Amino acid sequence: MKFFADTADLDAIRDLESTGLIDGVTTNPSIIAKSGANFLERIAEICKICDGPVSAEVSATDYATMVKEADKLAQIAKNVTIKLPLTEDGLKVCKGLSQNGTMTNVTLCFSAGQALLAAKAGATFISPFIGRLDDVSHDGLSLIEDIVAIYDNYDFKTQVLVSSVRHPMHIIESAKIGADVATCPPAIIKKLYDHPLTDKSLAIFVEDWKKTGQSIL
Ligand code: E4P
Repeated sequence: MKFFADTADLDAIRDLESTGLIDGVTTNPSIIAKSGANFLERIAEICKICDGPVSAEVSATDYATMVKEADKLAQIAKNVTIKLPLTEDGLKVCKGLSQNGTMTNVTLCFSAGQALLAAKAGATFISPFIGRLDDVSHDGLSLIEDIVAIYDNYDFKTQVLVSSVRHPMHIIESAKIGADVATCPPAIIKKLYDHPLTDKSLAIFVEDWKKTGQSIL
């Protein structure tokens, strides 16, 4: 399973990059607003740190303007992935970009039918928002199961990019289902390291090693 960092925080991206465990970055208008950064400059900076796919979302909702914005965003760096809303116009833009080899991430997916349309439009990634579904008492993970099953049935190449991840179990359950990617806030990725028995057992080993009076170096 690939991990993307769902953030525009450069320090957090650098920190995660240093682990060698991060495969890409996703942003959205809310994340950019929270960062206070200039959008185009921040995407360029992220692309210098991370050479995997870096999602940059169009701001327009009409076809013609989305095409222009996508062209401009795609010129920032070769790893920019154009993020498009799951609308009729968004998928038209997706179809055109996929035909000329530009990576796309179709966002705001809340149903299996929408995911099927995005795959037919040639999306590189589909982003189902599981946390936002859970928030309204719908099972986000069952949507991931449905999409993975549908894509497998027809051998669609679109990668399932689990989005709106709220806790480590979202990642673990998505991995069990076979989702391709999870995009997560950095703090949630860090939580995967944690286990109280690891801490407790390591403390015992450190103390017992001291008793040997030895040094490896
Ligand atoms: C990522 O591409 C999505 O925009 C993001 O995961 C949404 O997360 P949220 O529902 O926590 O805002």
